[in-house]
Parts: sequence; C-alpha cells; structure tokens
Amino acid sequence: MIFRCFLCKLRTHQWCFLLFNVLLFHALLFGADFVEEYLLQPTPVVYTDGAVVRVREKARKLDLSAAKENVSKAYHISNAEACRNSDIFLLTLVFSSAANLTQREVIRKTWANSVVIQGFPVKTLFFLGPTQTSDAQEDIMRESEHYGDIIQADKSTLQDPKERTVLALRWVIAFCPLSRFILLTKESVFVNLPAIGSYLLGLHRHPEDLYLGRVIQKDSPDRNPNSPGFLPPTLYPNKFLPEYCDGTAYVLSQDVVRKVYVASAAVPGPVPIDAFVGLCAQKSGVAPTHSARFSGEKHVYYNACCYRYLFSSAGMGSHELEKVWKDLEQKGGQCSLLKTYYGLVNCKVHTYLDKLGLFN
Ligand SMILES: *[C@@H]1O[C@H](CO)[C@@H](O)[C@H](O)[C@H]1NC(C)=O
Ligand SMILES: *[C@@H]1O[C@H](CO)[C@@H](O)[C@H](O)[C@H]1NC(C)=O
Repeated sequence: MIFRCFLCKLRTHQWCFLLFNVLLFHALLFGADFVEEYLLQPTPVVYTDGAVVRVREKARKLDLSAAKENVSKAYHISNAEACRNSDIFLLTLVFSSAANLTQREVIRKTWANSVVIQGFPVKTLFFLGPTQTSDAQEDIMRESEHYGDIIQADKSTLQDPKERTVLALRWVIAFCPLSRFILLTKESVFVNLPAIGSYLLGLHRHPEDLYLGRVIQKDSPDRNPNSPGFLPPTLYPNKFLPEYCDGTAYVLSQDVVRKVYVASAAVPGPVPIDAFVGLCAQKSGVAPTHSARFSGEKHVYYNACCYRYLFSSAGMGSHELEKVWKDLEQKGGQCSLLKTYYGLVNCKVHTYLDKLGLFN
C-alpha cells in the first residue's frame, strides 16, 4: 500500500526518469553480452575455397582406428580403453600440470563428479604433460591406476602447448570417436557440466560444425620480434587473428575435432594456443559460436544462482572450488527465473567491482 501511494504520487516525468534509470542499469549490465551474443552467431559459410573443401573431405575420411597401436606411442599413458567405444555425449578433457594432484583431487570430488546428464553419459579425463623426474612419474602412474582418468603426453610436448592440444585431439579421434561433444578446459576452471549439457541437448540444428565458447574478436598477432610468440607478417599477413574461443573452456563437436586436427598440419608459426585452434577452425570453414555464459579468463564472483547459470568461471583454486561446491550442493535444486536474474546482476556487479579493485 505504501509503495503504491508513493508510486501514484509520481508525475509523468518522474516516472520516466525512474524507468530510464532502471533500463539504463540493465542495459549497461547486460547490453554488451546481448549484442555480442546476437552479432557473433556464425553465418553459414559457403565453401568456395578449394582448400577448405579439401580439409573437410580429409577430416570426414580420417580414420585412426587401424592405427591405434601406433598412435598410442605418443603418450606415456594412453588410456586407450577409457571410452571403450561407448557412446559418450560429452567428453571433458582437463589440461592439468602433472604436479597438481591437489587440484585434480578436488575437481574429481566436485564438478567432474557426474557420469550422466539428463540420462546421457558424460566423462571427464585429465590430460597431463610429461614429468621431470622418475619419482614424479611413479606418482602419476599410481594415480592413473587408482582413478583410470589420466592421459599423459610424452616428452615431445614438454615445451609446446600447441603440440599438446593436437595430441589431445588425436587421442579423441583414435580412442573416443563416438563422443558427440568434446569440452576442452583447464584445471583452474570451474565447469558447470549440467548447464553445458542441457544447452547442447537443446540445440535445434544438427550439432555439426560446433565450436562454442567465449569468442575473442579482433585480437592482434604478436609482432614483437623479441617475443617467443612472434608471428612474422610473412607467415601471417593479416592485421587481426581470426575470431577464436577463449582457451579456458570451449566445446567442439566430434566433426570439428577432426577438422581442426587435419587443418593443424598446415597452420604455421607460434600463435597462442587458443588462437591456433581458431585458425585451424577457420581453415576448415568452421565459425565460432559465442556464449557469454563462458566467463573466459574472468573469475566470476560467487553467487549460487549465478553459478547455476554460468558455463564456466576461471581462476578457481582448490579451496574456493570446494567451498563453492559445498554451497551449491547444500542449496540444491533449481533457481527461479527471477532469482537467476538477480543472481546474475549480483555476480556481475561484484565481478566488475573486483576488477576495479574496490572490493576485497
Ligand atoms: C606411426 O606414427 C608415426 C609418427 O606419429 C608416423 O610417422 C608413421 O607414419 C605411423 N605409422 C603408421 C603405420 O601409421
Ligand atoms: C594447482 O592449480 C591451481 C589452479 O590453477 C593453482 O591455484 C595452484 O597454485 C596449483 N598448484 C600447484 C602446486 O601447481
């Protein structure tokens, strides 16, 4: 009653002012996401380029099933039976440093601790680089025997994250060719598998050519000759790198794994690893799809309803991950639309203030 009387005393211009402020607040908060989401939807590509057609054709015919033995040799731990030809809906590969057992233990207990989403099988595996000492290697072997969820690349990838990613893709093609979607992420990321799963299940179009993540636009190649990532104009003459999905968490459909893998042989030079995947996608005529629900490099301030809606949030240490997970489990259930909305407002404003350094 009091509220109504306050409102009925307002004059038209005061009403307008109030409404304008509410709209402005929401436009500032969600406008960029909304516009990006709308503008960054891929337009269907027409393959006039012969090279693109050849990559796609080669990817379609690619079959590593006869070469499994040989492919295994590129891994210390090949874990060739992890998928056992089962029809996995969403396979998650977490890039993890061999030394970080603590983080893997927490991931196993928290977001990776599920084997089905809405009745569809999912699986999470860790993709490790080589270790430096034989003691460390023995620890990894024990961990692998205990959990059976480790793939480990061999020495050739020690200095080269690009080679490691290519090896991860080759693993998928050789040993998990029936998985429909592949999520590539890092150990420092909180991943919301149920949300990603229901998004993928809800896709209307045939899930081919899917390269989904937080799309980075207009990133410039590194033109500093003294930097290790130097990309000389002779190798890559364009002013900007192609659009690519931020490497903290992104999803590829099985056919895109093949396309990117085939194209990777022809992509030159030291580009950052996530831009490299973008270049390979471009060479095979696959455009990235943007979703602002992936946080990219950002750590999103925790709020239960916000985290239920998000696909990923970066910068998660083991302690925070445990705390967040416990709270999510305690609160249980779903968030209403209104609660999700206010959760998003809440975590967006906090994340923004964190960035400005006004908080904590
Ligand atoms: C085995 O793998 C190596 C290196 O990955 C490759 O050069 C060779 O052609 C492969 N051999 C067969 C029979 O596939
Ligand atoms: C393990 O990974 C987490 C998340 O990236 C990080 O915060 C932590 O420092 C790492 N610990 C070690 C020992 O590398």
